[in-house]
Parts: sequence; C-alpha cells; structure tokens
Amino acid sequence: MTSPTPPTRKLFIRTYGCQMNVYDSERMAEALGPSGYELTDSAEGADLILLNTCHIREKAAEKVYSELGRLRALKVENPDLKIGVAGCVAQAEGEEILRRQPLVDLVVGPQSYHRLPELEARARQGGKALDTDFPEEDKFDRLGGRPKAPRGPSAFLTVQEGCDKFCAFCVVPYTRGAEASRPASQVLAEARDLAERGVREITLLGQNVNAYHGAGPDGDWGLARLIRELAAIDGIDRLRYTTSHPNDMSDDLIAAHGELPELMPYLHLPVQSGSDRMLKAMNRKHTAEDYLRLVERVRAARPDILMSGDFIVGFPGETEADFEDTLALVRAVSYGQCYSFKYSPRPGTPAAERDQVDEDVKTDRLLRLQALLTDQQVAAQAAMVGRRVGVLFEKAGRMPGQLVGKSDHLQAVHVEAPETLLGRIAEVAITGTAPNSLAGVLAG
Ligand code: SAH
Ligand code: SF4
Ligand code: F3S
Repeated sequence: MTSPTPPTRKLFIRTYGCQMNVYDSERMAEALGPSGYELTDSAEGADLILLNTCHIREKAAEKVYSELGRLRALKVENPDLKIGVAGCVAQAEGEEILRRQPLVDLVVGPQSYHRLPELEARARQGGKALDTDFPEEDKFDRLGGRPKAPRGPSAFLTVQEGCDKFCAFCVVPYTRGAEASRPASQVLAEARDLAERGVREITLLGQNVNAYHGAGPDGDWGLARLIRELAAIDGIDRLRYTTSHPNDMSDDLIAAHGELPELMPYLHLPVQSGSDRMLKAMNRKHTAEDYLRLVERVRAARPDILMSGDFIVGFPGETEADFEDTLALVRAVSYGQCYSFKYSPRPGTPAAERDQVDEDVKTDRLLRLQALLTDQQVAAQAAMVGRRVGVLFEKAGRMPGQLVGKSDHLQAVHVEAPETLLGRIAEVAITGTAPNSLAGVLAG
C-alpha cells in the first residue's frame, strides 16, 4: 500500500545569527518537505514555526524568549500550531527551553536537523521532542536530495562546521561542536547542483572556514584546493568564504587570492583586538603584529582586496591603553567594513568568570571604535567612485527601472538596468556613494 500524500502544511522559519543559520534554515525547510511542509513568509497561519536561534551574545539569546512570548497569541488562535526552537540557543539550553517556555513543542540542535521529520511527528502527536545530540551519522548526507527548483543567483554552502579554538569569550565550540569538514566530493556535487539552478556566486561557510580539511579523492584537501576546483565549475563565476581565523590563512590560500579571478577581492578576517595582552587573555594565539603582517601578505597577493573584521571591546581586563592599541590596529589596516561588539559574558565560557569592565566604559569604547570604522567605510566607498567593478544583480531596486546587486567587493550597488540582467554579472562604472551603498551606470 502506498502511503497517502501528506496534506500541505505551512512552515515559517525565523532566522537569527550568522550566515550558517541562513543556510541551515534552507536545509530544515527541505528536510520537512516530505512531511508536507511548504515555506510561508508569515507566522500567522503557519502550522509549524521554527526559530533558528543564535547564542553568541546575551541580547541575541534573549530575543528568542521575547519572540516566543509574542507567539503565544498565535497558539491560542490555533491550538494545532507547533513551535520549535533550533540553532545555537537550542543546543546550549536544551531542556531548559521546554521548562522556561511551555509553549515550545520541539527543540533541535544544529547537528540533528536531518532528524526533524521524526521530531516534528512526535510533536504533532502531542509530545515534547528534544534532540541536542552530536550524532555519529553525517547530517549532510541525509539532508541531500533537494528538489531542483530555480533559486537566486547567490547562495551559501557550508563546507566546515564547529570550532576547536576555544577563544575565551565564545560559545561556538560548545554550540556547534568540534571542527568537522565535509568531504570535497559532497561539496563539489552541491556546488554543481547550485550552478544548474542558476547560482552564479557561492559563499563557502564555516565557523573556521579556512581550517577546512576535507577528504578529497587524492588525500586531504585544504580550502585553497577546494576553491580551485569550485572555480572550475561551469557557471560559478564568483566565490567567497567566511569566517576565517588568522592562524589558518595558508600560503596556498593567500596565493589563490592573486591567481583566481573567481575568488572575490573581499576578506573577512576577524582579529577581535589590537592589544597583545587582550589577544593572549582571549586565547587567540596570534599577536597584533602577526595579523598586520598577514594582511600585508594578502594585499601583496591581491592589492585591491577589501578587508573586513570583527572586534570586541570591553573584554575583561581591557584598559584604555589596550583599547587604543585596537584603534591603532584599525588605523594600520584600514578596513572596508567591520562588525564590532561590546563583550557579552556567556555562561560556561572562561571569560565570563573574570572581572568585568563597566558597561558605560564598554559603550564609550564601542562608539569611538565605530566612529573610526564608519570613517573607514565611507572612505573605502568613496575610493570606488570612478572605478569599474563587476556587479551581480540580485533584485529590483527601490526606484523603477533600477536593479540592486553586489560588487566584487561585496558593496551594494544601485544601477539603472534592464530586468534581463537579474541573476547576471555586468560591468558597472561607479558614479557615487550613499552611506551604505554605491550608485553606478552600466559600462560598455
Ligand atoms: N569564527 C569566527 C567568529 C564567530 S562569532 C572567528 O573566529 O572570528 C562572530 C563574532 O562574534 C566574533 O568574531 C566576535 O567578534 C563576536 N563575539 C563572539 N563571542 C562574543 C561575546 N561573548 N561577546 C561579544 N562578541 C562576541
Ligand atoms: Fe569562536 Fe571563532 Fe574563536 Fe572559534 S575561533 S572560539 S568560533 S571566535
Ligand atoms: Fe550565533 Fe551559532 Fe552562528 S551562536 S553566530 S548562530 S554559530
């Protein structure tokens, strides 16, 4: 007897946190397809709501509970609605979530997404479903077999997950587990599938993506080898990768930036602090000088590369002098675009137990750092005016007749262009800048 086709149910996923969560949300939606779920873009009327959460800072984690509070009304309206928590808060807090928020039916950690169909079935039968294991089986193997629907021109592809570095402030090694790389053949197959579905640009993802060391047909492949093979795939015109750790920037990867036109001139390379004392306390295992030399080598390979980074201010023990070392490093590097945060103590991490910097000192330092970073971003954008860059057009702009895309350097560019250019790359002459984007005209 064939089983009846399950009725169509509506799935709403809200995604918080990093790009890996964006990738994972797509995989979760696909995993639930055979259970009869179709994605919807509104929580109202959904049969299953999943919050794909982030635990990196306290604010990020707290958002989940306030969102759950808001969802209560929907559950009153529709008693059949099931609510699930996925992602890094699910991994970190597990059962505690079910205790703190009884309207949650399902809790699933990032390594168990392939088990979602059975967890959903259990929740649907009225039980509470919890899975925060680090299973032996290959999640990615079981998340495969996607429908060949066409999709946007830019896609994420997770190649590595987890982290063994244990920076003293960070929850990632606990929420994502030990470092693991997907086999090269699996990554290449997924990339070919994406190319067939219209994807022109792939951003390779990993918590430490440049620590990638996946099994290849002829032994271990590093990230540089993987990128070289991906660049050879027909249709894949642009490659990016994020996030990298300074200690894993191999010579081969630096060289690839100079050799491969497909590898885009943008590098997100977090340093966190410019003070050696703080870097040591953070367990980063590199100095400010190591980082500056590294940036020099990357720029020697690809002079027009746009540098990006992450910073934490107010890490326990940070003095004004330490903070000024950070400002000095920022001036020495000259970034195109950065992320900066006040240190947020995270339960279970070593730095949370240390003497904390006053909140108003943190706020003051963050504002000063961000003022400098904004000046650099504005200058980097102004420097693009008069240059020609490739732009991959992703969507319609706000003005009629306008398209928006991303430049090689990952800057948003508004251009008057025909809709036929959507999903394609064209040469654009940059004519002006706005706070967070560039304007240009089609060239040639
Ligand atoms: N794997 C990446 C970063 C992952 S987390 C790396 O090694 O650089 C993303 C960023 O969040 C970090 O770079 C850091 O700047 C910030 N972050 C992590 N933990 C934090 C904390 N406890 N408080 C404030 N910012 C934090
Ligand atoms: Fe977190 Fe990155 Fe450090 Fe790993 S290397 S512990 S992910 S900040
Ligand atoms: Fe957040 Fe987890 Fe990503 S903590 S930043 S969602 S790896």
